[in-house]
Amino acid sequence: MNNDDVLAALATVQDPELQRSVVDLGMIRDIEITDDRLSVRLVLTTAACPLKGRIETETHQALAAIAGGRRVEVVMDAMSPEECDRLASALSEDARVPPAPFGPGSRTRVLAVASGKGGVGKSTVTANLAVALAQQGHAVGLIDADVYGPTIPLMFGMAAVAPESHDGKLVPPERHGVKVVSMGFFLEDDEPVIWRGPMLGRAMEQFLGDVLWGSPDYLLIDLPPGTGDIALTIAQILPSAEMIVVTTPQEAASKIAAKAARMALLTKHRIIGVVENMSYFICPSCGEKHFIFGHGGAFEIARAAGTTLLGRIPLDESTRSAGDLGTPPALDAESPVGAVFHEIARAVDALKPSPKP
Ligand SMILES: Nc1ncnc2c1ncn2[C@@H]1O[C@H](COP(=O)(O)OP(=O)(O)OP(=O)(O)O)[C@@H](O)[C@H]1O
Ligand SMILES: [Mg+2]
Repeated sequence: MNNDDVLAALATVQDPELQRSVVDLGMIRDIEITDDRLSVRLVLTTAACPLKGRIETETHQALAAIAGGRRVEVVMDAMSPEECDRLASALSEDARVPPAPFGPGSRTRVLAVASGKGGVGKSTVTANLAVALAQQGHAVGLIDADVYGPTIPLMFGMAAVAPESHDGKLVPPERHGVKVVSMGFFLEDDEPVIWRGPMLGRAMEQFLGDVLWGSPDYLLIDLPPGTGDIALTIAQILPSAEMIVVTTPQEAASKIAAKAARMALLTKHRIIGVVENMSYFICPSCGEKHFIFGHGGAFEIARAAGTTLLGRIPLDESTRSAGDLGTPPALDAESPVGAVFHEIARAVDALKPSPKP
């Protein structure tokens, strides 16, 4: 008999509260097997565990069954607070298994597009990056996670598209080569949305798991502004998601940098780059670039977050109107703004995917 035999025997003993075996939970320590004695130390999460007696008895019985006449000893003990914390976080991570097809081993790179504040062009960047990636031959999905103000359907000109479902799963409507799911599909016009954390989490899980995505190369997520619930939920559901931060030059660089860094810290996501939007204005008559709001801010943010500046998008009237008309400028890779998005898409594609857990 060796330690593995002992662990195999004890794998049948469950902590009824945590619904896992005491072996999985790392509660079995110090196995000792001698000619006449078989002993283990059993560490519970707390010495005051109400189920202590029951777990002890079952452990004893499981060991007696394999002891071969040896005396069985179960020494009851408790975890240190640090061990307890570690177990709690491991269990909460396990509970959030990413829904297929974005789970472990998935080929899909998930890109979450975030910003420190609203109105900087997150949705514009997400939509155009998605279109550019699709035009470059990638299979692309897009989740509009801005449940407060979903604008992606408008930007894709699909406001009136009612999604179909198949076997209880949603078929994501496709536009400009991008499969799109948005809360906007499910809301009446002007219906106020008051979401609480758990509901948001559930909505995101459904967007990921209950939609027939296939296995796209890229899944882009347009986050709501700020560093709130959704970002954290996505972090929990999709620990391998990569983050792109959108900013404008006039934002107080240091403040936003701190926010972005904090968000990365909170979510443990890799920030793969910063996109500066509304960077400069191209003079329609002379073609010269005017950096109305100054420049250098986004570069500073990128440096503070330990990442790179992926690109600068000009302030451009046709970008705004194209957004409203459902024809993102990235559809035309030759247009001045479209070309910038295509360059950013290539830069993103060139970055090595983060390893899947
Ligand atoms: N480079 C640009 N040139 C001109 N207009 C732009 C540019 N980028 C975005 N806009 C316009 O600015 C407005 C805000 O952009 P967008 O909706 O993409 O921002 P957002 O960060 O997603 O906002 P929110 O925080 O509300 O979700 C839109 O009307 C959009 O068309
Ligand atoms: Mg938006």
